[in-house]
Amino acid sequence: MANKYDELFTDIEKRILGLIVGAKILNDLTDIRNKYLSKKGEFSVLMNKIREVDDKKAFGEAYNFARKEIEEALNKKFEEFKKAALEIELKKQAIDITLPVEKYKSGSMNPFYKVKREIEDIFIGMGYTVENGPEVDSDKYVFELLNIPKDHPARDMQDTLYIDDNLLLRSHTSSVQAHVMENAKGKPIKIICPGKTFRRDDDDMTHSHQFAQVEGLVIDKNINLGNLKATLELFAKKMFSKDSKIRFRSSYFPFTEPSVEVDVSCFNCKGKGCSVCKGSGWIEILGAGMVHPNVLKMSGYDPEVYSGYAFGIGIERVAMLRYGIDDIRRFYQSDIRFIEEFNKKVED
Ligand code: DAH
Repeated sequence: MANKYDELFTDIEKRILGLIVGAKILNDLTDIRNKYLSKKGEFSVLMNKIREVDDKKAFGEAYNFARKEIEEALNKKFEEFKKAALEIELKKQAIDITLPVEKYKSGSMNPFYKVKREIEDIFIGMGYTVENGPEVDSDKYVFELLNIPKDHPARDMQDTLYIDDNLLLRSHTSSVQAHVMENAKGKPIKIICPGKTFRRDDDDMTHSHQFAQVEGLVIDKNINLGNLKATLELFAKKMFSKDSKIRFRSSYFPFTEPSVEVDVSCFNCKGKGCSVCKGSGWIEILGAGMVHPNVLKMSGYDPEVYSGYAFGIGIERVAMLRYGIDDIRRFYQSDIRFIEEFNKKVED
């Protein structure tokens, strides 16, 4: 509402609005706000005049009206500057989508690692934790604590690469069992240990001086062979085929008693007999058994109270079966054409 005090503010308002229009950068606006509208700003102090006027209400209204117009103009200009700044920023970041793209070749994972991860996932799903151990280890862990004393003929089962009389490249991941049991100090254990192993072997289609295993170990009260069988059957079903079966054949390992070789029904011919299973309908996939009482004792477990099972799976062997790979050496040759084959999804 116009009133008799309006004119008091007309000049200064015009001046300020002029300044706002002429502002070039954001800082100019901040300066204007400080100079005129801050507590002691040139415009704000005009309010003090209210003490001298007779119609205070009308004065207040006129003051507020002018102030509001200034503030609105100021805010509008602030917004304009911000929008302009944003537009500049967006322009800077603009991507020319008409430019030709650089062609990236996506990599593929070596089937060895695919299978290693799959095996890990399956056992993690069953509550196992993944442990690691040293690849260069002492005689104590690779042999002695696994019930393979010095000069025992079972040492010949694994022709090992020695670094000195005591240190050697581990010939199996069973050595990790001994470490884990030592550290667990008599407590239950449920672990797998994937890792490299080394043997003095002549390399051919199915042998390599370096290969990898996944060791499994479960120790607790009341663990029996049935638990082992159920575990490995579930593993076979998840790894190979929903209707996989397994069978145990008795065998010998120094660190287990009884010991078994485990076969899985041929997933190629479903047990009828084919070239993959060499006509038998079964394929050997791993060694396993109940942890030998001597092994338990040596690592501080009372075999009268605790029992356990262990198994050792060859990772390359599983990968070769799973993907129909004919030569173990392909895993290590870094031939990109071979590795790329496994980018394709494999149906189960
Ligand atoms: N260590 C054995 C090998 O290298 C595999 C193995 C067999 C591991 C039986 C085990 C087991 O834990 O119980 O051939």
